[in-house]
Amino acid sequence: MTLPPPVDGSAERTRWSAAAGHWDRWADPMAELADKLNRPLLDAAGAAPGHRILDLASGAGEPALSAARRAGPDGLVVGTDLVPAMLAGAVRRAADATPAPAFLAADMLHLPFPDGLFDAVTCRFGLMFVPDAVGALAEARRVLKPGGRLAMMVWGPRADNALFDLVGTVVEERLGPDPVHRLDALFRFAAPGSLTAALERAGFADAGETALTPVRRAPRGQPVWQATLAMTFGPRIAPLTEVERAALDAALADRFTARAEGDTVPLPAHVRIGTGRRE
Ligand SMILES: C[S@@+](CC[C@H](N)C(=O)[O-])C[C@H]1O[C@@H](n2cnc3c(N)ncnc32)[C@H](O)[C@@H]1O
Repeated sequence: MTLPPPVDGSAERTRWSAAAGHWDRWADPMAELADKLNRPLLDAAGAAPGHRILDLASGAGEPALSAARRAGPDGLVVGTDLVPAMLAGAVRRAADATPAPAFLAADMLHLPFPDGLFDAVTCRFGLMFVPDAVGALAEARRVLKPGGRLAMMVWGPRADNALFDLVGTVVEERLGPDPVHRLDALFRFAAPGSLTAALERAGFADAGETALTPVRRAPRGQPVWQATLAMTFGPRIAPLTEVERAALDAALADRFTARAEGDTVPLPAHVRIGTGRRE
């Protein structure tokens, strides 16, 4: 299978540096929903009490905070991210966590760890933003112990992810395209088999992927898009006037209401978990 084309690493650094404050703002309100995805990701990585777990591209702390609870007091969780500003939210949230992960800034292409240190490596919605994804997977494999497992979560196709699709469509219609805050990179590994192919090229044994397709039912009439709008397009909407912002929200409300079934709006999602083992 052909691997998806690389992304522009410098645009990605710009994107996440600009988005960091919005992620910190929304991380706590989204934590319960986040944990629903973290649990199957940690299961896929074989994460267990006492393990040393490395989380790549932790952003504001997902799934590193859940991983620390799983690893327990005898384990160790290290969360890393390219962008120190993204980790500010993770560090803030870890201050109240027991046990707490440690966080440090690191590009997943060049990890500051010796070979064979970790029992498990996780990454939630990060791989697609790395220019050389196979290189990042090979680097993750290097720091795994023999027998250690890696689990990577990526988004399935845009059309299967209602929140992104609706918010992206309205933002694109009203504000036009943007070279940095764009959705296409999110879906870089959406094609079934593309993540498995990258894992195999990076040297993983037992490479494979599974799909999760949960449907969230949001109460009708609530601005359920706010977190997605802020975390994905925050820097684009920040300069809008009050009138422009109200018009954007009204357009979003119309789109979401049009999907309502009775008192709820069904919001299907599609995530994919790729796994592999270091022999
Ligand atoms: C969509 S966020 C995901 C954050 C978190 N894992 C979560 O699921 O909430 C993507 C993260 O990937 C990070 N990132 C992008 N390129 C990276 C790289 N080369 N190495 C490490 N992290 C990277 C960004 O800084 C950002 O925090």
